[in-house]
Amino acid sequence: MQVKDLINKLSQSKPGQKKPEPEESKLLEDDLHPALKPEVVTTPEKKTRLKVPDVLAPLLQRKEKQAYEEYDVEKHGSLVDAHIPEWHELLEQYWVEKGRSLIFITLNRKTNQNEYLLFEPTLSDFEHELLERIHEDLRDVLILSTDELHKDRKNILFDKMYVLLNEYGLTLEPTTLFKLQYYLLRNFIGWSRIDALMKDPQLEDISCDGNDISLFLYHRKYRNIKTNIAFESDVLNSLAITLAQRSGKHISTGSPMLDATLPEGSRLNLSLGTEVTTRGTSFTIRKFREEPYSPIELLDYGTFNVDELVYFWLAIENNKSLLFIGGTASGKTTSLNAVSMFIPPVAKVVSIEDTREITLYHENWIASVTRPAMTEGGSAIDMFDLLRAAMRQRPEFIIVGEVRGVEAQTLFQAMNTGHTTFSTMHAGSVDAAIHRLESEPLNVPRNMVQALNIISVQALIYRGTERVRRMQEIVEIAGLDPSTGNLRVNNVFVYDPVHDRFDYTGRSQVYAEITERRGWSRDQIESEIRIRKQVLEAMQKQGIYDYITVASLFHLFHIDRQKVLDNLSDLRKVSQ
Ligand SMILES: Nc1ncnc2c1ncn2[C@@H]1O[C@H](COP(=O)(O)OP(=O)(O)OP(=O)(O)O)[C@@H](O)[C@H]1O
Ligand SMILES: [Mg+2]
Repeated sequence: MQVKDLINKLSQSKPGQKKPEPEESKLLEDDLHPALKPEVVTTPEKKTRLKVPDVLAPLLQRKEKQAYEEYDVEKHGSLVDAHIPEWHELLEQYWVEKGRSLIFITLNRKTNQNEYLLFEPTLSDFEHELLERIHEDLRDVLILSTDELHKDRKNILFDKMYVLLNEYGLTLEPTTLFKLQYYLLRNFIGWSRIDALMKDPQLEDISCDGNDISLFLYHRKYRNIKTNIAFESDVLNSLAITLAQRSGKHISTGSPMLDATLPEGSRLNLSLGTEVTTRGTSFTIRKFREEPYSPIELLDYGTFNVDELVYFWLAIENNKSLLFIGGTASGKTTSLNAVSMFIPPVAKVVSIEDTREITLYHENWIASVTRPAMTEGGSAIDMFDLLRAAMRQRPEFIIVGEVRGVEAQTLFQAMNTGHTTFSTMHAGSVDAAIHRLESEPLNVPRNMVQALNIISVQALIYRGTERVRRMQEIVEIAGLDPSTGNLRVNNVFVYDPVHDRFDYTGRSQVYAEITERRGWSRDQIESEIRIRKQVLEAMQKQGIYDYITVASLFHLFHIDRQKVLDNLSDLRKVSQ
């Protein structure tokens, strides 16, 4: 019996129908067994190859539900059959999901460009058609009862699949079953065809420019990179609709553009169809990283140098207020989050955001998020409300994700009443930022702006073909000029693009104030800077990047610095 015939047979046994009689099942078993061997493996970009499955389990008619196994790569081996295409040289390979989604980074010698190749389990024709059939039938049965809603979604999905397989009267070879599980999970619970990309922690963003055009990615190591993934228009449109639905928004040809936040925090920008983006549906997903960048990682990326981090460390310990400015995706929020790890342990922190981005390793921290108006009489809670509430909670540090509106005034009031605040704002330069603060709709009076101590300007720039993030300048607000009434600013660090380095100008009012307030001598502040520099450099040298270890070492330094200094050669010994 041919594979096609099997599918025909399958399609005759609709779920809920009476199962075939035993004689018929005997016939099925005998007939179908040869149809499965050898298994035909096809992938779009390569020739058909033959692969003989390890164990050919016969197809059996079963009456009772069978206990199915969970996939375990150690036990069952890989489900992926990857190959390096002609003209490509393999640079690196890694699993996104062990045994199930594999990435090859290759150099395409024809174009002399790197490529990102994704391999997922290969389906035989039989498996492919079976998957489609299950897909169709699952749609009918996937209306969950309230009871089920509280259960693990993965298990519900698998249970329903097993019920269907039982209805079809099929027992499958484990490998086939695991492949089906992979695709069902990917399509129903995951991000469908871009699931592996969403799960690859190496990716910063994913862009689709239109129909039948390869997706492009921004890879943390290989930067801009082309993939072997492209979608035809109908597949692309249905993916776009799924993305919109997942972010709780509606998209249609009537309103074809969308800006949204996906459930786990990634940002989505989407245009449907060819009306506004002529090459077809396009989208960009800027992925949210669950593990925040630590200051040591930013040091490694060259966004800041060690002197600048020491400067932030001392400034924060001495309650100086900061504002990170820059263009879209210049890394403002990332830097804000990273330097917030310098906040001393036990200090009370309140963070206020529109969408939850800030992640700290800090116990005494209230993380608040705005919410839109609820339909049933509930009211919207905006930044301004949260900030006012925060002031009553007596925090020492207030972190505001991004200032855009009237809440700016409250933020500056907070600074003027002795709170330390960290925030970000969209502005390309210090002048532009001050101008924005003082004009509509922010309207912060100039004498209040003075309470801000430090502005750090960040940009996304190109170095050769590489896209990198660099702090451009760190500027201190040095009060009002009494004769002109203008704000005086003092440059502390300036980026030198020619040498890709940061120069300290030698003048810092913040350092001068700390020295004075602490009653230190010049030698003392210098030694303080030197010691902290050693700690940061030791962390970098020892590859201590993860934010929990990094933050806990900063905490330890605050509580028992001698312990840190005594263990500089192996800081992991004293970290959590
Ligand atoms: N210093 C950095 N080095 C490398 N990648 C970074 C750096 N800073 C941020 N990123 C990455 O860049 C992307 C944008 O970062 P982030 O959200 O911090 O920017 P932003 O300026 O706050 O953006 P927005 O204007 O949308 O608020 C993220 O994917 C982040 O992981
Ligand atoms: Mg931001």
